[in-house]
Order: sequence, then C-alpha cells, then structure tokens
Amino acid sequence: MLLQLSTWQEIEDYLKRSRTVIVPIGSNEQHGPTGLLGTDFLCPEIIAHEASRRDGADLLIAPTFAIGMAQHHLGFPGSISLRPTTFIAALQDWTRSLTGHGFERIYFLNGHGGNVATIEAAFSEIYAEASFDRHQAGFALKLRNWWDLKGVMALANRLFPTGHGSHATPSEIAVTQWAYPGSIKAANYAPQIAPTGPIREAMDFRARYPDGRMGSDPNQASPEKGGDLVALAVKELIAEVEAFSREESPY
Ligand code: NI
Repeated sequence: MLLQLSTWQEIEDYLKRSRTVIVPIGSNEQHGPTGLLGTDFLCPEIIAHEASRRDGADLLIAPTFAIGMAQHHLGFPGSISLRPTTFIAALQDWTRSLTGHGFERIYFLNGHGGNVATIEAAFSEIYAEASFDRHQAGFALKLRNWWDLKGVMALANRLFPTGHGSHATPSEIAVTQWAYPGSIKAANYAPQIAPTGPIREAMDFRARYPDGRMGSDPNQASPEKGGDLVALAVKELIAEVEAFSREESPY
C-alpha cells in the first residue's frame, strides 16, 4: 500500500492494524555514463514497492525521500544535494509528522552510502528530544541499506566478482534496468574498471573520477541480474520489517 495513493481515511484504518511505515530514502546524483541520476532513490523505491505488492504483505510505503547528501557529485549536471544540516532538519520534520499520527516503527530503506552518517545523526537528534526531557519517545527508527539486507551483498559478489566498486555499481544499475527497461543506456567504458580513492568536494571528485564511476564496471549489469537482486531483497525486507514491527517495547 502506497501512502501517496491512499486517502487519509485509509491511513487511519491502517493505523488500527499496524504502526509501521517504510520510507525509501536515497539521493539524486550522477551515476556514471550509464547509471540513471535517480539510481540511489529508485533502488529502495523499487524494492519497497515490489514488497508492498506481495500477497499477504500488509506494508505501508511512504513517499520516497529522493534527495540526500550528494555534495561531492555536484560537479556533474543533474545532481541535487542537501547539505547535512538541511537533511537532518528535513528528516526530523518527516519523522515528527509520521510519529504524530501514531506510527511507532519507521523503517528507512536507504540506497545511498553517503546518506548513512547524516541519517544516523538525524536519528540521534530526534531521540535526543525525548532523552533531554526524560520521556519515552514511543517510537523506534531503523536504517537499512538495501544491499545490506541479508544475503544481498553475497549475491552481488557472486553476480559481479570483479568490478563491483562503490559508486555506479553494476548491482544498483541492474536493479534500475529490471524496473525501467526502457531507460537502459550503453557506453564504452575507459578504463573498464574505474579508479578508487577518497571522497572530498565536488571539483576534487570530478578530477579523480572523470566519468563519475568509482571502482565499478557497470557493463556487467543486466535486467535479469537486477531481477535476482530485487527478488532476494524483497523477501528479506518483508522478514526484517515484520521482525521490527514485532519488537517489544522495554517500558
Ligand atoms: Ni548509487
């Protein structure tokens, strides 16, 4: 069930049977010559939406939080970034909006490694409001990168034993190819496997990684491999969200 395709009455009814919501979260940033700018928010969105369509899965998916911390990609056209302080403030407001309605388990399915530090900092800011007042928050927040769902990275390593890399990876590009076969791009990569190194500011990033990739050979991506990754991620997402929903409060 998608929140944006529901009415407020349907959400009110949902809250009578579940207090859990999944928020796909990512980034809009360059992904090399063949990766879609939306790759990092599309991957968690694709997996979460697919999970919500599974028989018997009564999952609510929030609108995708599509813009994240991508300052290092701003040297490439189309990239859009929030600075960490803005990102934290926006996460606080999203979370307060949802917890105010009674959601008690908010599960963020993330698609961008560069978001992790800021999302964790946002969680600490949100929890700190309750901690300083010595009152119970009454909700729990969870962050999971989609590639860290059980078995997914092992599958990616089997599908792409070399040239997986860390940015514009064949696995994330394969997931988008599976969902959007009409937007598959082709390019001649030189070098075949991109260089690796540090991440600093945008001009430094573009000089080190001229076509935008880091350590990857996206030419190995295919819609079929993407479908395998999505199928496993969906299964593990459903299991993990069910366990998170069942978590007992210690109060
Ligand atoms: Ni990515």
